[in-house]
Order: sequence, then C-alpha cells, then structure tokens
Amino acid sequence: MGDFFNQGWSIYISAIALLGIAFCLWLLWTQRAWLSPSMEEQESSHVWDGNITELNTNVPRWWTVMYVLLCIFALGYLIMYPGLGSYQGMLSYSAAKEVQAQQEQINARLAPTYERFREMPLEQIADDAEARAIGQRLFLNNCAQCHGSDAQGSPSFPNLTDSTWMWGGKPEDILHTITEGRRGIMTAHKGVLTPGEASDIAQYVRSLNSLAHDQSRVPSGKKLFEQTCFACHGADAKGNQLLGAPDLTSGNWLYGSSEAVIVEGILNGRDNQMPAQKNRLTEEQIRLLAGWVWGLSNNTSK
Ligand code: HEC
Ligand code: HEC
Repeated sequence: MGDFFNQGWSIYISAIALLGIAFCLWLLWTQRAWLSPSMEEQESSHVWDGNITELNTNVPRWWTVMYVLLCIFALGYLIMYPGLGSYQGMLSYSAAKEVQAQQEQINARLAPTYERFREMPLEQIADDAEARAIGQRLFLNNCAQCHGSDAQGSPSFPNLTDSTWMWGGKPEDILHTITEGRRGIMTAHKGVLTPGEASDIAQYVRSLNSLAHDQSRVPSGKKLFEQTCFACHGADAKGNQLLGAPDLTSGNWLYGSSEAVIVEGILNGRDNQMPAQKNRLTEEQIRLLAGWVWGLSNNTSK
C-alpha cells in the first residue's frame, strides 16, 4: 500500500487499525469482573415469570486466553505484513509481486512450447497449424473483447480480417502495432468548417465509394477536402499509414459510412487507441498473434 496520496492518509489508516485492537483489549478489561475464574455462578437480578432467575456464568479461561492471543496475532500480522498505511511489513510481501512471480513461473513452463516459433518467420507462423491454434487462443483471451471473437471489429474497433489497414498490413507492421500500440488522432474541424461544409465533404467522400450522394455538392466538397483533409488522408483520399489515417475509398469503415457519422467525425475529430501489449504478453506470444492476424487476410492454405 505504497500508493497513498500523502502521509496523512497512511497515519489515519494505521491509527484506525491499532485503535481497533486497543478497543478490543479495553473491552475485555471492562468486563474483567465476569472473567475472574474465582467468580462462582451467580444468580442475576433478572427474574422472569415470577420465579425463573437468569444465571450469570463466568466465561471459561480458554476463551479469555484465546481472545488475548487473537489480539497478539493481529499485532504480529500488522508487523509482518502490509496493513498499517504505507508500512511495507517486515516480510515486504505484496500481492502484485506474488502475481508477477506466478506469471514468471507460467511463462517458464510455457517456454518450451513457444521455443519452436521464436525464429519462425511470421508468414510461416500463419501457415503452421499448431501456431494458428495458439494464436487464436491468445486472440480470444487478449484481443476479442475489443476486436470481437471473429476479429471483425465493431464501430471504432477495426476489422482485422479485411485487407484494409490503417497502420499497414505487412507482417512487421502488424507486429509493431501489437507490440507498441497505436493511437489514431484526427483533429476536430468545428471552428474551421461549418456543418454545411462538412456535409458537402461527406457527399464527396461517399461519392468516392459509390454510395448514394448529392452530385451537386460534390465539387465544393472535393475542393474543401483538398484544402483541409489532404495533409493526413492524401489528395486522393487513400490515407497515410504513418499517421494511421484510413483510406477513405476502400469501402471498409471504422466508424460508418452514413453522412451523419462522417460529419460528426469531421466536426468533433477522433481519438482512438490500440493498447501496447509489450508489457502484458511475451515476445513469442506477440509473434504468434501477429502471424495469426496477418493470416486472417493473407493465408490461403487454411
Ligand atoms: C482495449 C481495446 C483493444 C484491445 C484489447 C486490442 N485492441 Fe487492437 N485496436 C484497438 C483499437 C481502438 C484500434 C484502432 C487504433 C486506431 O484507431 O488507430 C486497434 C488496432 C489494431 C490493429 C491495427 C489495425 C489496422 O487497421 O492497422 C491491429 C493489427 C490490432 N489492433 C491487433 C490487436 C491484437 C492482436 C490484440 C490482442 C493482443 C488487440 N489488438 C487488442 C483496440 C484494442
Ligand atoms: C491530423 C490528421 C487528420 C486530418 C487533418 C483529417 N483526418 Fe480524418 N482521420 C485521421 C485519422 C488518424 C483517422 C482514424 C481515426 C481513428 O483511428 O479512429 C481519421 C478518420 C477519418 C474518418 C473515419 C473513416 C472510417 O473508416 O470510419 C473519416 C470519414 C475521415 N477521417 C475524414 C476526414 C475528413 C473529411 C477530413 C477533412 C475535413 C479529415 N478526415 C481530416 C486523421 C486526419
């Protein structure tokens, strides 16, 4: 628990923990009259139904001893393990370290399985039945929550089975994407373009994909596109993989092709992130994933 904002919280938590134990001992002390083994069974002054008298039986000695031992155990625990604010405990145990140690053990156990794939070219991984089986399992466990179990994505999460790539579809591009992560940022054009102008551009973008559009607004949309959008998407709208700017002529859409969605993106911009996996997965696991993903759109031997 070394992540407190300031020392005040640490002291506060420690005080509550120690006062709790002190309270238990104090409580025992206040009841000492009941605990005295010399005290014989006594009739109390509580009388029910005229002649039934409540009996006061003193607590057995083993109970008192256990109570005190438990308080001592609690103090001992707080000395050995973290529990008193930011104090690490004499054993400097931490749950995070334990998880890390378990992870290392598992990786060591799996190392021989992955050994065969360490030097294997990614194209060959995509062709190897065992590698594909492991790749798919890794995908289901680590990627499917965003990209879907069929890898076909959903709005804002790219489809990995088509041949349209924002960041490049060569095996080494995909390897880089998974290892380092990617962040696609499209600037907002709210102050730069009016909604009418954005809508003209949307007509032009739709025309590039042979989707229904208003032909009379295409020339103005094209002109605005060449002024405002070409720096990232290119004058031909085919995108730029260095920036993750998608090809707007491919017919595959990350967000959708409707005028409303395109206008919304133009005015408000986009900020989208693929999380880096290098600290979560081993190098071999990432290679198997890259090969498997590449194979989704390139492997013909499946
Ligand atoms: C938290 C959600 C999330 C997880 C988990 C995730 N991704 Fe992604 N991934 C994204 C997003 C969002 C993008 C799009 C980034 C962008 O818009 O530039 C992306 C992009 C990609 C791309 C690039 C697509 C292209 O067109 O260039 C690849 C390849 C990819 N992910 C593979 C994976 C693999 C393999 C895993 C599992 C290890 C994974 N992703 C896990 C959200 C995720
Ligand atoms: C600063 C660079 C940049 C500029 C300028 C820019 N874009 Fe983008 N655009 C991007 C990036 C990067 C993405 C991908 C966003 C993501 O990863 O989610 C994108 C995404 C899009 C999409 C979504 C495509 C899909 O598949 O759903 C459309 C449509 C689009 N841009 C159109 C435009 C238009 C029209 C303009 C000019 C008004 C423009 N962009 C200006 C970088 C840019």
